[in-house]
Amino acid sequence: MLQDAYGRTIRDLRISVTDRCNYRCFYCKPVHSQKLTYRAGIMTYEEIIRLANVFVHLGVNKLRITGGEPTIRRELPFLLKELASIPGVDDLAMTTNAHFLAKQAQMLKDTGLHRLTVSLDSLRQDRFKEVTGVDGLKKVLHGIEVAQQVGFDPIKINVVVIRDVNDDELLDFAHYARETGNIVRFIEFMPLDADKQWDHKRVVTQAEMLQRLQEIETLEPINRSYTSETANKFRFADGKGEIGIIASVSAMFCGQCSRMRLTADGKLRPCLFSEKEYDILSVMRAGCSDEELIDKIAEITKLKEAGHRINDPNYTYPEQSMSSIGG
Ligand code: 5AD
Ligand code: SF4
Repeated sequence: MLQDAYGRTIRDLRISVTDRCNYRCFYCKPVHSQKLTYRAGIMTYEEIIRLANVFVHLGVNKLRITGGEPTIRRELPFLLKELASIPGVDDLAMTTNAHFLAKQAQMLKDTGLHRLTVSLDSLRQDRFKEVTGVDGLKKVLHGIEVAQQVGFDPIKINVVVIRDVNDDELLDFAHYARETGNIVRFIEFMPLDADKQWDHKRVVTQAEMLQRLQEIETLEPINRSYTSETANKFRFADGKGEIGIIASVSAMFCGQCSRMRLTADGKLRPCLFSEKEYDILSVMRAGCSDEELIDKIAEITKLKEAGHRINDPNYTYPEQSMSSIGG
């Protein structure tokens, strides 16, 4: 069992398979390139599979594949198939921008991937383009539909709510959830953007979101499925539509955290906001045994921070932005 210094058990590993993306969401800003040329610094699938096996051996039962945009990495289905077949993996999920989903949905389903989360911050064509740099809304909405049809149902839709950028779309998104059956999750804007545009004033808090959403219909809380679940879940009283709110700023949930992150270049990040990350890929490439790898991972886990300090007056940004951390 992997336990940190605060007694939290690690159950959930997020693996970034590339830091590249075909989108350039202004709050994320990944390395610009569509083509993934082989780079020696990026973990190979064999290395990812080895690490995943070790983590599962240590008690991890949830894996999430992230990026950048994971679907632009070549032969991704191979990796997913291997990860899905590790005994002890109860949940294999992936976060994507859904740009290529229409074409890939069936193939992804066939790998054994259990769940999909789509990042989607606007339902308006022009604004979508402003936010991501690409005129891709139609493709994304179509991709989501196809994915639902092949059996990824419901799909979680992540919306980062930013005041004066997209907070006027809360109700539209709620209606979208009610109509499609997908679960919309509103995420409080966190200071992870490369351009450092984050400001407390741009955060729309859970309380404010709930107040605005009740305009549609009364919202009733739904119990958490497991204790480390990050979203507070609600359903509309008429039974139509589920939404979640990830109140990472106004109601932080670090005390229940069960996550660790692996960057595409093989660094272990105990926390989304870690100022330090630990190079586990070099350790592997130096030829360590599984036992040595386990010791190293256990040691790094003990360094997991108690929580984020966004609400501290002298908060400083982590050095990496979301595209390399993976969300
Ligand atoms: N604040 C909150 N959430 C963010 N994401 C990316 N950047 C931020 C931020 N600054 C979310 C995206 C995506 C996931 C990878 O992380 O919505 O769904
Ligand atoms: Fe790409 Fe996601 Fe970053 Fe947007 S938030 S640029 S889709 S990795």
